[in-house]
Amino acid sequence: MAHTGNPKSCLLTPRPVSTDPTPFYMSQHTTDQLQIFLDIATEAALAAGAVLQAYWGKLEAVEEKGRPGDLVTAADKDAEAAILKILRLHVPEHSILAEESGQLGDNQNEYLWAIDPLDGTTNYAHQYPIAAVSVGLLISGKPQVGAIYNPFRDELFRAAKGLGATRNRRPIQVSQTSELSKSLLVTGFAYDRRETSDNNYAEFCHLTHLTQGVRRSGAASLDLCDVACGRLDGYWERGLSPWDITAGVVLLEEAGGKVTAYDGSPLIIQSGRILATNGQIHDKLSQELLQVPPMSTWK
Ligand code: IPD
Ligand code: CA
Ligand code: CA
Repeated sequence: MAHTGNPKSCLLTPRPVSTDPTPFYMSQHTTDQLQIFLDIATEAALAAGAVLQAYWGKLEAVEEKGRPGDLVTAADKDAEAAILKILRLHVPEHSILAEESGQLGDNQNEYLWAIDPLDGTTNYAHQYPIAAVSVGLLISGKPQVGAIYNPFRDELFRAAKGLGATRNRRPIQVSQTSELSKSLLVTGFAYDRRETSDNNYAEFCHLTHLTQGVRRSGAASLDLCDVACGRLDGYWERGLSPWDITAGVVLLEEAGGKVTAYDGSPLIIQSGRILATNGQIHDKLSQELLQVPPMSTWK
């Protein structure tokens, strides 16, 4: 069932039935709480998505903020305002880390919403319709809830810890691809790529040789969704921010995928470096990322 995009409809639509049993460590109360937070995240993502649609093709200005190519528009700012309004209404006691507003509230707060009002700003500014709203919730530093909405495909991805992952309210799962040579991957290049040799170019070329291809969509949140629903088999990237990946990490884990640092150790969300796969190619991709030959040695 495609989502209508009506921000109000999400709270009225029946909740998805979880395919996973509730884990033993999670009380019913906590599960109910996560469901409520997921509905709040959904309401915020859909409201911001409506803003992105309203500005589509009508931007009067595109500004650079800091680094060359790091763009910001009125759509980013107004979409963020729409999310903040909803979070302040429902959970005024929680803290927020928002791409355009920074940290709002106490940084010791157990609850931290990590929000990207427009993931894929460069695509959006060029009217290349791969962009999304990403609304994630960290509880005690761990990603627990995520809603990602791509208004241009009317695709709504939702997940909460222990409650499963869905695309337009239907359960999703990662792919079964187990060989790198049969895999299709995705990656991205951070805005500091001109300033550092740790720019992911060598990794991109190396993995392009070993797989059926490496895509670059320009929206990290959607890269994680695409691995979560099995369109792609793996994703890696560096230079990310918590708002790019918090929601997507929950999506991927709940869809049966694996998310770690490049070396397979637990993900540190603030490190900005993520390896996310269907689980089956995880160790192989990790090994390749750790032994990429320097580009100067390539023939
Ligand atoms: C960017 C996108 C892109 C990734 C960049 C991010 P933005 O986010 O997710 O795919 O490669 O590192 O900063 O700036 O469009 O919100
Ligand atoms: Ca982003
Ligand atoms: Ca953004």
